[in-house]
Amino acid sequence: SNTPVNVTVTGAAGQIGYALLFRIASGQLLGPDTPVKLRLLEIPQGVKAAEGTAMELDDCAFPLLAGIDIFDEPNAGFEGANVALLVGARPRTAGMERGDLLSANGGIFKPQGAAINAGAADDIRVLVVGNPANTNALIAQQHAPDVPAERFTAMTRLDHNRALSQLAKKAGVPVAEITRLTIWGNHSATQYPDIFHAEIAGRPASDVVADQAWLEGDFIPTVAKRGAAIIAARGASSAASAANAAVDHVFDWVNGTPEGDWTSAGIVSDGSYGVPEGLISSFPVRSVGGRWEIVQGLDVDEFSRARIDASVAELVEERDAVRELGLI
Ligand code: NAD
Ligand code: LMR
Repeated sequence: SNTPVNVTVTGAAGQIGYALLFRIASGQLLGPDTPVKLRLLEIPQGVKAAEGTAMELDDCAFPLLAGIDIFDEPNAGFEGANVALLVGARPRTAGMERGDLLSANGGIFKPQGAAINAGAADDIRVLVVGNPANTNALIAQQHAPDVPAERFTAMTRLDHNRALSQLAKKAGVPVAEITRLTIWGNHSATQYPDIFHAEIAGRPASDVVADQAWLEGDFIPTVAKRGAAIIAARGASSAASAANAAVDHVFDWVNGTPEGDWTSAGIVSDGSYGVPEGLISSFPVRSVGGRWEIVQGLDVDEFSRARIDASVAELVEERDAVRELGLI
């Protein structure tokens, strides 16, 4: 349709924001037929830099960009939002785990959830990128009781894409030949990248790369600790790859996942695969009719079960910690 979609981006002046906004405005978030209006939400100190980015967005003359507004207050920023990308939060630095950010960042998501509840559009879709993403998404969701819980999601698509790339390298195939990979659990070092249902050119991935030592000693830790490796190498946390994953997540949510494949996203658990109801955990998901569905009926062997359980236990701990902090 020709009605612009309102996309709110928090942390617009940050490094992910800088990589993300141009992709959205060029049409990659929602597709080439959908005009977008950007609503940039920053803290007051970030407004000037966001204005500079808005000038550059103007200077791209993107045909699909129908307007840019800048806000420093969440109620205004989320008013009428159809899509909300919650990026604004402090990144970790070397030596920290993402969960160490809970007390610093958790407080951001309570007022933002309330603002979404108060003024976002009825079809609002929320993706939380700011860390710790799963638990921040839970905080926001808990403060938006009038919004269906399923509209709150956390980003594990970057982990999914990292896993695709690592597996493709090992198998010596293009990434496009890999399907049905899964990230389970938390966007943290406990996440479980699962290749046991994955296929490489239609064959079971675990037949093509039948190498348990590589799986346990290389693949799983490389994917799970990739964020820290990027920080060590770049001196700053991932930005363009994170923005890319956010674009992939929302594009698939709106447009559907490819036939025969699935992806990974942090969504509210309905109790599937033994993940306690209400936690925001990564699952194998398909997007059908504009909604995420958990892929059902996958066999989970002992090896996978232990890893899923460990990551889910961390999500329970994080939920309990934010309860203690009075954030939910
Ligand atoms: P950054 O420090 O470059 O930018 C963050 C921006 O958010 C800043 O401009 C800051 O002013 C703004 N901000 C802070 N509080 C805000 C609030 N209450 N409302 C609106 N804006 C606010 O950080 P970055 O590198 O862009 O990373 C942002 C977050 O994304 C971090 O928490 C990082 O850890 C996380 N991240 C997550 C993933 C993932 O896969 N889920 C990947 C990469 C980064
Ligand atoms: C990532 O996975 O790159 C981000 O979550 C940033 C981080 O802290 O690792």
